[in-house]
Amino acid sequence: MTLPNNTKIAYGGDYNPEQWPQEVWARDYELFDLAGIDTVTLGVFDWALNQPALDRYDFDLLDRIVARAGAEGRQICLATGTGALPPWLAKLHPEVNRTDFEGRRHRYGQRHNACPSSPVFQRLSAELARRVARRYAGSEAVIAWHIGNEYGGACYCELCGAAFRDWLKKRYASLERLNEAWYTTFWSHRFTDWDEIEPPSALTEHWRGPDHTAFQGITLDYRRFMSEAMLANFIAEKEAIRESSPDLPITTNFMGMYQPIDYHRWAEHLDFASWDNYPPDDTSQARMALTHDLMRGLKGGQPFWVMEQTPSTTACRDVNPLKRPGVLGLWSWQSVAHGADAVLYFQMRASKGASEKYHGAVIGHGGRSDTRVFTETARLGEQFARLGGASLGARTPARTALIFDWDSWWALEMSDGPSRLLRYGQTMITVYSALWELGVDVDVVPVTADLDGYDVVVAPLLHMVKGDLAQRLEAVAARGGSVVTTLLSGRVDEDDNAFLADVPGPLAPLLGVRVDEWDAREADVVNPVRLGTSDDSVVSDSRLVFELVIPQGAEVVGVYEQDFYAGTPAVTRNTFGEGEGWYIGAMLDKPGLSWVIREVLKRHDIETRYADVPDLESAERVTPDGTRLLFLLNHRAEALEVEAQHSGTDLLTGTHVEKGERIRFEPCGVKVLRRTP
Ligand code: GLA
Ligand code: ZN
Repeated sequence: MTLPNNTKIAYGGDYNPEQWPQEVWARDYELFDLAGIDTVTLGVFDWALNQPALDRYDFDLLDRIVARAGAEGRQICLATGTGALPPWLAKLHPEVNRTDFEGRRHRYGQRHNACPSSPVFQRLSAELARRVARRYAGSEAVIAWHIGNEYGGACYCELCGAAFRDWLKKRYASLERLNEAWYTTFWSHRFTDWDEIEPPSALTEHWRGPDHTAFQGITLDYRRFMSEAMLANFIAEKEAIRESSPDLPITTNFMGMYQPIDYHRWAEHLDFASWDNYPPDDTSQARMALTHDLMRGLKGGQPFWVMEQTPSTTACRDVNPLKRPGVLGLWSWQSVAHGADAVLYFQMRASKGASEKYHGAVIGHGGRSDTRVFTETARLGEQFARLGGASLGARTPARTALIFDWDSWWALEMSDGPSRLLRYGQTMITVYSALWELGVDVDVVPVTADLDGYDVVVAPLLHMVKGDLAQRLEAVAARGGSVVTTLLSGRVDEDDNAFLADVPGPLAPLLGVRVDEWDAREADVVNPVRLGTSDDSVVSDSRLVFELVIPQGAEVVGVYEQDFYAGTPAVTRNTFGEGEGWYIGAMLDKPGLSWVIREVLKRHDIETRYADVPDLESAERVTPDGTRLLFLLNHRAEALEVEAQHSGTDLLTGTHVEKGERIRFEPCGVKVLRRTP
């Protein structure tokens, strides 16, 4: 089972008519018609409404909402409504509330607030999902199921403690094996009874928060456990839905680069991936591109849905900037360019009260159709209508892969030493940007991905090397590909214990280097790295962590310019089989990374696009019938003129573009070129 059946990009979003009087609904649909809204997500937080008491379900209002949406010709993504607990449940069974990292049992409040290990929550959430599915599976308007909402956070209660111990018993079978994995001889931690093990929290192994732990092993396993405990909640609801709805695709909305949940472990249980795109600022174009690619990578390159984005502003941040004119369309097209087959907003109409009354919505409190936001929404609706089904199901023809791994992310950021300043997500963005700016299509893939189709595999901060990954990376190089990795790679095994070998452990043969020492410095300490040969060299700053790289067969391509290691290698390239293994020993700034990436790409005839035009993004998708769609996105607030690098027809205007001719982009302008074969 894959994506919901559609004939065009699904367009719409979260719609909560249960929050306002029924008289308003008619106006809502009038406005939806004007804006080309064809899809609504319903009932995300309806638990208290649908089940007002333990022994009472009442679907009267949801019946009317679903029926109306269907009668108005909208397709529905129907939520199970379990994203927030109802107050009566928290009162009746206080253990459904979470216990926080400090050990405080919470009382009723907020949302995403259920203990994943509570049998009562497990039973009642699945039961609600079962009843929702049974009731509405027959409605033709329903095209997909939406379970829960933005799974995340963590619980540290007794129930979770017990479930954690069960999880550990399955994982390790014996305490001996667990003691070995967690390295418990250190600091007198040898466990002699499973019951001695508690969730790692501020009361036990931690200080200064969840990333500061005395024992990485237990903390790492607790993250894995918590991610799987919530996955089990998801699966329980999914199975309940399947009893009456065998065929409709099921999803839950992810949050992109969200650390607490290992989306790669979840992915196989979703029929299609969907995510909520709320970039932290308005300079996040590369970050969003990376995140779209990460979400597309969850289901092996299958298109995904943007389940939520704000049409204008968020409300949850201390300061919530407004999307500039044109940005709503531009960022929506960016998501389509990277594989989205649905573009949905949070939310369709602004809520009247509580914490999101300031949150942007397609329809504001005044219900007008002549606002800037509504007008831009409607313009995009027209464009999607014009595009029709042209991009549906299209795949990204990437020959470059970026490896992203939650285990490495967790292990690196909870490590004491060498530096707390080096952040996994930010590093991924910087490395990805170097590819993105060159206009290279990238698949962001898990460590378990099949790497056979890729010419270039980039694996920044590959801290943890698990299973047969080292051999599979070697195979990429052996057949002529290029593998690029960086500092702090090949350091630990699956248990977060160091390899008893030279750094970079199992990656050493591929990279042809050895690292005995590393120097971590404050953020303002810079060591310039000279890259390339003397007549053609480039100098780029590097910072944070400087590894002293000792070639063991690799060729030196970059050297430090300062400190006692001035003149020694910082970047190397090793011939391996028909291909190469690159090692970047220091956190190079973007110019240095771009230089390395350009060098790597030279060996492969991988298409770069508009590499010298900053702010002009390009991304390609190939439709099931082989049509190449090239998306060109002007991220500037000014118009832009360039020489076209490809011929094709712009599907948004019908205009033909000939390679070599000058083409003009409006501010935030977009073209979708059907490339001439
Ligand atoms: C999240 C949630 C929504 C809403 C939006 C607001 O993504 O899923 O319910 O709170 O944030 O930005
Ligand atoms: Zn719990």
